[in-house]
Amino acid sequence: MADQNGYVILTAGETSLVLECAIGERPNMLYWGARLEAPDPDLIKAMTTRQHAPGCADTEIASSLLNETGTGMAGLSGFSAHRNGMAWASLFRVTRVLRPEPHRVEIVCEDEITKVRATHLIGLDPDCHVITCQTQIENSGDTALAIDWCASASLPLDPRATRLFGFTGRWSGEFHLEEIAPFLGSYVRENKSGRTSHDNFPGLLVGADETNEQAGPCFAFHLGWSGNNRVRVDRLSDGRSFVQMGEYFFPGETSLAPGEVYQTPPLYAGFSSRGFSALSRKFHRHLRYKVMDGRIDGKSRPIHYNTWEAVYFDHDHDTLFKLADKAASVGAERYILDDGWFGSRRNDKAGLGDWWPSDEVYPDGLCPLVKHVTGLGMEFGLWFEPEMVNPDSDLFRTHPDWILQAEGVEQIPFRGQFVLDLTRPEVCDYLFDCMHKLLSAHDISYVKWDMNRDVHHPGSRGRPAISQQTRALYALIERLREAHPNLEIESCSSGGGRADFGILRRTDRIWTSDSNDALDRQRIQRGASHFFPLEIMGAHVGPETCHITGRRLSMELRVATALFGHMGMELNLLEESAESLEVLKAGIALHKEHRDLLHHGDFHRLDTPEHVNAVGVVSDDKSEGLFSWCNLTGHRQTLPGRMYVPGLDASKTYRAKIIWPKPVRSISRPSVLEATDLGGEGMDIPGEALMQVGLQVPLLHPETCLIYHFQAV
Ligand code: DGJ
Repeated sequence: MADQNGYVILTAGETSLVLECAIGERPNMLYWGARLEAPDPDLIKAMTTRQHAPGCADTEIASSLLNETGTGMAGLSGFSAHRNGMAWASLFRVTRVLRPEPHRVEIVCEDEITKVRATHLIGLDPDCHVITCQTQIENSGDTALAIDWCASASLPLDPRATRLFGFTGRWSGEFHLEEIAPFLGSYVRENKSGRTSHDNFPGLLVGADETNEQAGPCFAFHLGWSGNNRVRVDRLSDGRSFVQMGEYFFPGETSLAPGEVYQTPPLYAGFSSRGFSALSRKFHRHLRYKVMDGRIDGKSRPIHYNTWEAVYFDHDHDTLFKLADKAASVGAERYILDDGWFGSRRNDKAGLGDWWPSDEVYPDGLCPLVKHVTGLGMEFGLWFEPEMVNPDSDLFRTHPDWILQAEGVEQIPFRGQFVLDLTRPEVCDYLFDCMHKLLSAHDISYVKWDMNRDVHHPGSRGRPAISQQTRALYALIERLREAHPNLEIESCSSGGGRADFGILRRTDRIWTSDSNDALDRQRIQRGASHFFPLEIMGAHVGPETCHITGRRLSMELRVATALFGHMGMELNLLEESAESLEVLKAGIALHKEHRDLLHHGDFHRLDTPEHVNAVGVVSDDKSEGLFSWCNLTGHRQTLPGRMYVPGLDASKTYRAKIIWPKPVRSISRPSVLEATDLGGEGMDIPGEALMQVGLQVPLLHPETCLIYHFQAV
């Protein structure tokens, strides 16, 4: 935390940052990584001195916090702007250094020539050890300043961090982690979908050759933003590497009038010396305690029943009542009425924008259903897609000009809907009024806030406006939450298309994916867990035959998969057999029994062969652990390996049991189940043996998921 002669040092946990910020000089991140007990910045500077190399500039170009255009650094400049083609070579020098809090620094820089003030806002969370970087740009000139690109920061990468992982994905297949082959040059992902996106989640992981889930140095980066974004890694031929993340702008999108200020979204960055799982835990804690607002901290997350895959647009009054009865009887605690309840919304071609109950399907309004649901002891939740309008709607017929569009460019058809222009205050007022009216008139405590299309041409009054649109969306959600302080909101965008720390600052959970296929979900939830903790990941038990993949999976597997998340159901319970309802009910009861641990514990991903996904949570005091071992496809060897249980206390003894499915059977006998009674009363095993010797896993059929419980005795 010390400031020394033109340096600022931030240290928390196992992380240190050393920033160069001498007045009149360029700001720079001299060091970030493992904790330094007694950093001597002058010494670090001397130790890291580079030199002229033949064929290069006479003096090597020094990096800075943005590597802005005027620095002459190779690779993408972290800031690039101009005044109608002039004043384009910005170069920032420090003028002031402010310390609003011990773990935060604001480095104010000026460029007297281009008349730009750039302020770097950098914090190191003293409790969770996550770094937050934002850049503020002020136009201190007297003409308009067009910003083409402004990264939240340009962060240097440790040269030992050789392995790079990015995120790809698609609708119903989000959070796909992909290792990028070594390269010199750039790794770039640009998301222009107008939402966080399914295919370009703004996250990055970097590790050393030896880093795995449990050990080794690693770094992670995430942009807390729900609009367009750019993720970029430059590995320069001079050996230096930088990570940049920020908003992607369309041409001319961001122009500052004299005196105006632009602030980037936060870039969250973390370091761990103990592997990727430990790094995820930092992000989980930071999200839980520093990003989200804590309004529902004291409340257990209720089991959901969602009507979508049970009835789609077929909102039959009797069926919906009966589904509520059935849902309550198996343990649901919240009932969410999905798409189809309003206006002329009898299919996905009409009605969006007309936010009042359909006379046709709900002649007496929503009151009877809400009363029935709450009378059963469940909370009531309602689906909205506020940002959208169908051409076939009263709203569009009245206000055809309320949509985002680029003049002369045809709208690209996408689920038969257009995007409303939230940058117009009258549009947000309309949406607020509609939602406020419904929420005030009924006992509705939950909103599923959906967003189901990409935004290709986000023009407003001639200019591209997705940056402003995203800010307007945040403001609309905030306004609604202010008016309804107990309202909980789920961020859904055709599944996990809008999942990020920006939206989660204003909402309470994400709909992780539209795929309820448990095998898909094992991978999707594992991918998402790099940044998101279990309690914010919506995870539902879907129908036996998945509507999206056509795969048939057992109720036991579907339950085990949804159990490691914010659990819910999304299937037609009226068609389920008595036996399968019994299994579902038992699974829900099991989730409730362990919900506190699942939703507050320390999360671990295990290093396992490809055919296995194993994850778990351990309580803060290490007195209890819950782990899931899913045999996805079957193994190459005759037998599965052992599970080395991470995160326990080596000096404690644990009662180890397999608590799901019941009864648990192995393919052949005798097995570890008989040898240890793991499937029955359990067995007492020292923590050090569980961690170091490992527990043999019984021989399982593919598509089988075991849940192990470890209770300190
Ligand atoms: C997409 C969501 O992801 C689904 O869960 C469902 O709410 C549909 N939209 C409704 O249109």
